[in-house]
Amino acid sequence: MTRIAIVGSGYMGGGMAQVFALAGHDVVLSDVTADIAQSNLERVRVETAQFEEQGLYRTGSTDLIAANISAAESIEAAVADAEFIEEAVPERIDIKHETLRRISTANPTAVIGSNTSTISITKLSEPVVHPARFLGVHFSNPAPFVPGVEIIPHAGTEESAIRTAEQIVRGSGKVAARVTDATGFVLNRLQYALFHEATQLVDEGVASIEDIDAIVRSTFGFRLPFFGPFAIADMAGLDVYAFCYASLQTEFPERFATPSILSERIEKGELGTKSGAGFRSIDPERIGDLVAYRNRAYAKMAELLEELGPSPFDAPEPGGDEDRASR
Ligand SMILES: NC(=O)c1ccc[n+]([C@@H]2O[C@H](COP(=O)([O-])OP(=O)(O)OC[C@H]3O[C@@H](n4cnc5c(N)ncnc54)[C@H](O)[C@@H]3O)[C@@H](O)[C@H]2O)c1
Repeated sequence: MTRIAIVGSGYMGGGMAQVFALAGHDVVLSDVTADIAQSNLERVRVETAQFEEQGLYRTGSTDLIAANISAAESIEAAVADAEFIEEAVPERIDIKHETLRRISTANPTAVIGSNTSTISITKLSEPVVHPARFLGVHFSNPAPFVPGVEIIPHAGTEESAIRTAEQIVRGSGKVAARVTDATGFVLNRLQYALFHEATQLVDEGVASIEDIDAIVRSTFGFRLPFFGPFAIADMAGLDVYAFCYASLQTEFPERFATPSILSERIEKGELGTKSGAGFRSIDPERIGDLVAYRNRAYAKMAELLEELGPSPFDAPEPGGDEDRASR
C-alpha cells in the first residue's frame, strides 16, 4: 500500500483516485480549496456507487473507496507524507508550474507524476525541487476504464522514480508504457495524426463525417484493441504495405513517402509474420496460435458489439423517424 496524493481533484484526478483506491492504496485528494476537494470526493463516492450498481465495479468497491480516499485541507497537507503524488490541475503551464513548485517544496522526497496531455515534461520540471523524481504519468479518459498509461521521464528523471511510477501503475491493474519526452508523446501524436487525416478526407469530400467514423471503427479500428500498428503491418505483410505506399505516393508524395524502416526490412527479406521476421518477433512455431488468437479476438469483438448495440451517436432516436421506419 502506498500513500498517494492527488493534486487537482477534477475529472482525471477523481478517476485516478478511484483506480489507486481500488488497488488498496491510501489516497488523499486536494484542490484549490478544501471545499472543492471535499465536494469532488462526494462526487467520486456517488459515481463509484453508480458504477457498482451498474456492474462496472466489483461488489464492495463503494466501501473500499469510502475507506481509502479522503479529502485534504490543502495541497501541502495532502502531499506532506505522500510517497507518490500525481498532479492533475488544468493544462496550463503557469498553473502547473506553480502547483509543482508548491508540491515539491512541501514534500522533497516523494516521486511526482504529472497527468499532462501535451506539455513537455522537461519544461514542467523547471520549478520542481529535486526534479530527478519528476516524470509524466499520463492516464487516459475515463481513467477507471481505459487501461493504458504513458510513463514519460525527462532526461534527468532517475530510474528508481520511473520504476516506482511503473510499479504503482501496473499494481493498479493498468498497462504502463515508457515514452520519451517528445511533443504529443505517443498517444496524442497518433490520435491527432488520425484525426488530421480524417478532417482532410472530409474537406476533400471523400466521405461524410458519419461514414468516416463508421469505416474507422468497423475496419482497422476493430483490430486495434488487440494489435498495434507494427503487429498489424507484420500480419498484413510488409511487401503489401510497400505496394500500398507506392500507390498512395502517386497522389501524396510527401505525406505518404515509404518509411525507411519499412524499406530496410523489405531489403533484408523481412516481410512480416509470413517470412518469420518483421517489426515484431514471433517464434515461427507460434504463428498458428497467433492466427487462432486473431480470429477468436475478432469474433468475440463482433459478439461484444452486437451485445452492446450501437452508441447513441449511431442508434436511431427512440420514437424518431428512422426508429419508426425500422419497426
Ligand atoms: N479530461 C481528459 O480527457 C484528460 C485526459 C488525459 C489527461 N488530461 C489532463 O489531466 C489534467 C486535468 O484535466 P481534467 O480533465 O481532470 O481537468 P478538470 O478541470 O476536470 O480538473 C482540474 C482540477 O484542478 C483544480 N485546480 C485548478 N487550479 C488548481 C490549483 N492551482 N491547485 C490545485 N487544483 C487546481 C480544479 O479545481 C479542478 O478540480 C490536465 O493536464 C489534462 O490535460 C485530461
